Amino acid sequence: MTPAERIAELRRLIRHHEERYYILNEPEIADAEFDALMRELVRLEAEHPDLVTADSPTRRVGGRSAAGFASVEHAEPMLSLDNAYSEEELGAFDDRVRRGLGADEPVVYVAELKIDGVSIALTYEDGLLVRGATRGDGVRGEDVTANIRTIRAIPLRLVDNPGAHLEVRGEVYFPRKAFQRINAQREEAGEPTFANPRNAAAGTLRNLDPALVATRGLRAFVYQLVRTEGEETPVVHSHADTLDLLHRWKLPVEPHWRRCAGVDELVAFCREWDGRRRTLDFDTDGVVIKVDRLADRRLLGATSKCPRWAIAFKFPAEQKTTRLMAIEVDVGRTGAVTPFAVLEPVVVAGSTISMATLHNADDIARKDIREGDWVVVEKAGDVIPRVVGPIASRRPPDSVPWRMPAVCPRCGAALHRPEGEVVWRCENTSCPAKLRRGLEHFASRSAMNIEGLGEALVAQLVDRGLVRDYADIYTLTEETLANLTSPSVRSDGRTIDRRFGEKNAAKVVAEINRSRTNELWRVIYGLGIRHVGERAARVLQDAFGSMAALRAASVDALQETPEIGPVLAESVRNWFDEPRNQQLIERLGVEGVRMDVLAEPRAARREGGPLTGRTYVLTGTLASLTRAQATEAIERLGGTVTGSVSRKTSAVIVGADAGTKAEKARALGVPTLDEAAFLALVKVQ
Ligand code: IVH
Repeated sequence: MTPAERIAELRRLIRHHEERYYILNEPEIADAEFDALMRELVRLEAEHPDLVTADSPTRRVGGRSAAGFASVEHAEPMLSLDNAYSEEELGAFDDRVRRGLGADEPVVYVAELKIDGVSIALTYEDGLLVRGATRGDGVRGEDVTANIRTIRAIPLRLVDNPGAHLEVRGEVYFPRKAFQRINAQREEAGEPTFANPRNAAAGTLRNLDPALVATRGLRAFVYQLVRTEGEETPVVHSHADTLDLLHRWKLPVEPHWRRCAGVDELVAFCREWDGRRRTLDFDTDGVVIKVDRLADRRLLGATSKCPRWAIAFKFPAEQKTTRLMAIEVDVGRTGAVTPFAVLEPVVVAGSTISMATLHNADDIARKDIREGDWVVVEKAGDVIPRVVGPIASRRPPDSVPWRMPAVCPRCGAALHRPEGEVVWRCENTSCPAKLRRGLEHFASRSAMNIEGLGEALVAQLVDRGLVRDYADIYTLTEETLANLTSPSVRSDGRTIDRRFGEKNAAKVVAEINRSRTNELWRVIYGLGIRHVGERAARVLQDAFGSMAALRAASVDALQETPEIGPVLAESVRNWFDEPRNQQLIERLGVEGVRMDVLAEPRAARREGGPLTGRTYVLTGTLASLTRAQATEAIERLGGTVTGSVSRKTSAVIVGADAGTKAEKARALGVPTLDEAAFLALVKVQ
């Protein structure tokens, strides 16, 4: 056998075993044997570089792109689906379809599991995978080909249809086991965990490093054939035939779909899978129901957003009953006191819950929820669990209605409810609970941006009396921080005492030191003065130039500032009138926190950073960053931000309500980045 023949054979074998493993879940050989095939191919290709082709399984992981993802237009819009939340709504859908088709007989549908992942469009040309794109806004998505190629359920070449030009659509998802593994690893490494498999899939697909994506174990299913050209493509007349065809081409098709005649069979399918879905290795949040005959689909058409021939039946939120052990209250930064339920732990929708929201005191009274009650709790998808209501028949005879405590559970100050409001408040400015939330805000990314000083550390510092106000942060030493210990529950359930440690301590102290030179508006915003958001803090900084001037400003002077209204002016004045707050400002000044406008407002551009020589334009509003923060992030990495788009622009960052700059970028063929792609760009570097 020649090397070329052996290489071809190895590629065939490897694809076959990838399919057995990643699509059919029925491997025929051991992992070690598979690895041996792969190693042999790598070796042969290294010896014969002229025989390397782009569709070789050794070429799944390609180079990373430093500039983010290009925006691409879909051949036809990727539509969304209408939802049905009950069997009645499903019946109504069937009625609409039957009326639309003038059908007397039951309509034939295909019911498929709705995969809770990220939708993608795959383009094959001459049988080769040439593009993978996200849905984006339905019209334009992001080109994530390099990442899609690493997903081994997706063939790089269509073996049974080598000449095909086609586009298929489907869903990329995180298998549950891979999700648990990745979260366990992140927890171990002290990194933030993903909230659910869908977020993990979306985040991974947008990562700029395909080598990392390849290690994550993403999978995919396809369910739609959008465009086909090529002689070997048989003409199909039904969706069931389409799914068979995709399967024959060895594309990954979720195997549990079923043809259903009429609404009764659909309902049976939905009920069956509501019960069985936990047995799958992926999250499904419902069943997608599609009219089977393609001619009927054309007849029914689509609205601007959704086809009229399909609907997503959403599984009902999972409910469980459990004991409500106690109703406790939480005190927020503004002193708002909100009740929550402490529950006997119960598994709902795949996760153990021991707490649930109870909204407010009025809601508890209306539903008459009492401590000691058996209650119904529910959780839909990644929504925060909530208490639906009590089971009155199981109520203990000695139970009493719940009442909001008269005093703050943390500081003992009397609680008040302002006229006409539903929220109770603790008005004590030095309440430790408020201090905790206040410190979290002070240190947060949008305020003083002290990385590492998060919820857990703040709680410890306050509980141990090491920090009594914001200025105390600046007196912390590495030694104090290093010796802090906290109980930590590991993923295997064991509780261990984790020491904060020298390395973490040094990092946090460095961050605290750095924050002393922050721009003034960050300090103003960090103080947590009511009604003073980030925008107002910047306006105040620009108008007054120093903390001293702001502190001396009268209500009138404040009100004369553009954008500052009477409520805000009043709130600022009141805050500075409070002696405690004046002391705080003085102490922050003594600790070296900058109290006037910087001579040179932004951090120096990092020469030789990864974005050196690249030029970006910002347009529209980003949800998680202000324009100044986005500019800072780019400049920190060596890039430049300019105001207008030209051919030389490396990319345009497009936020919400973007205007002509985004259009101009498209016209000039300049790549655009949406917010997620931009965040990935500035984070990965
Ligand atoms: S068909 C025009 N089938 O659900 C109809 N979608 O809520 C295109 N989804 O955007 C969608 N599993 O990302 C279809 N078996 C399935 C699906 C599915 C998951 C997603 C898809 C769509 C979203 C709508």
